[in-house]
Amino acid sequence: MSPGELPAQFEATFGKKPTVLARAPGRVNLLGEHVDYNHGLALPCGIQLAALVGLRESSSGSVRLAALDLGAEHTFQVSDLEAPTAQLRAKTPDWARYPVGVCWAWVNSGHRLPAFDAAYTCDVPSGAGLSSSAAIEVAFASALCSLQALELSDIALAKLCQSAEHTMAGVRSGLMDQWTSVSAVRDHALLLDFNNLSAQPVPLPAQVSIVVADTGVPRALTASAYNQRVQECRQAVAELRRHRDGLGSLRDITLEEFGELAGHLTQPARMRAQHVVEEIERVRQGAKALEADDANEFGKLMRASHVSLRDLFQVSGPELDKMVEIADQLDGAFGSRLTGAGFGGSTVSLVERDRAGDFCDQLTRRYSAETGKRATTWVCQAGPGAHADVIQQGCMPNT
Ligand code: GLA
Repeated sequence: MSPGELPAQFEATFGKKPTVLARAPGRVNLLGEHVDYNHGLALPCGIQLAALVGLRESSSGSVRLAALDLGAEHTFQVSDLEAPTAQLRAKTPDWARYPVGVCWAWVNSGHRLPAFDAAYTCDVPSGAGLSSSAAIEVAFASALCSLQALELSDIALAKLCQSAEHTMAGVRSGLMDQWTSVSAVRDHALLLDFNNLSAQPVPLPAQVSIVVADTGVPRALTASAYNQRVQECRQAVAELRRHRDGLGSLRDITLEEFGELAGHLTQPARMRAQHVVEEIERVRQGAKALEADDANEFGKLMRASHVSLRDLFQVSGPELDKMVEIADQLDGAFGSRLTGAGFGGSTVSLVERDRAGDFCDQLTRRYSAETGKRATTWVCQAGPGAHADVIQQGCMPNT
């Protein structure tokens, strides 16, 4: 659905036009996986797939939410947000957890939440590892900021949305998805530093396309598997602290130091930590490769990242491995890897721009022949981060 169609759908649902419209993109991570919650570095970019939210303050005392794609509605009282979070979660349908989580985080951050009506649509596929949840959260939070003329920093907005995810989805996710959705820059990747919270746009190589391929195996980013990895990384830090006083995070260990200390670590903490330490170094090199317009070098780093996610971090699966294996054999491909949390979802490949169409055709054909599953591909444009506008007299903002 285009931004232009949302107000009519909103009016059909609530009888009035929205006063605020917000858009926030999904993301694809090019390099730097499972490092955000280890104070590391990552290189994601925003994509053209996005969540769109229309919102209007109301005097009803309730918040009415409509998921236009699902034809579903959910209503709650602003006062319901004061209930214990387990109770709030239990009373909220799965699809509404992200917007309700944003409302909860909004109030919890000390902001006033008015009653409102909101309708949203999202073309970021859910379960594909492209952060549909972050897109929805950031679109809602941006719309609320706009409604209340509140200016939050990018980091404050991203953190608010992250706490919505922690509370309502129970996933101890890092900040990458929400931060990218807020701060993405057109035609650039973002070099995100989760230690000092700086974001530096890095231009993408000319003549290169980013291809995302969804394996059709829904990403099972349940609290269990993801949170277990978070816990294993913490375990590695705790064990390393016995040998290095004051160690803050895996970011503080150089490759050389890790080589010296690794023998003190138990498994699987050792494998997880090795992935993190090496992946952070790959991102450093990857940012330099992008600056130098060197897609070949970047592709090599992507391949090494996949091998590490498969063998050391152990978050890949047969379909992701197969998709990467096929992609690496196709003409015009520089490199491929799983993107996002893993456990299903999508791969990302860097491909010569002129060959991207052929690449997608062959990848889907061969993947289907070898796995019996259907892949969906997108040639991604690195797009801008979240944007919200107050709508003036039926005039649509240029989003
Ligand atoms: C998910 C999380 C992110 C990040 C990635 C893995 O997308 O939401 O915070 O940890 O997995 O890099």
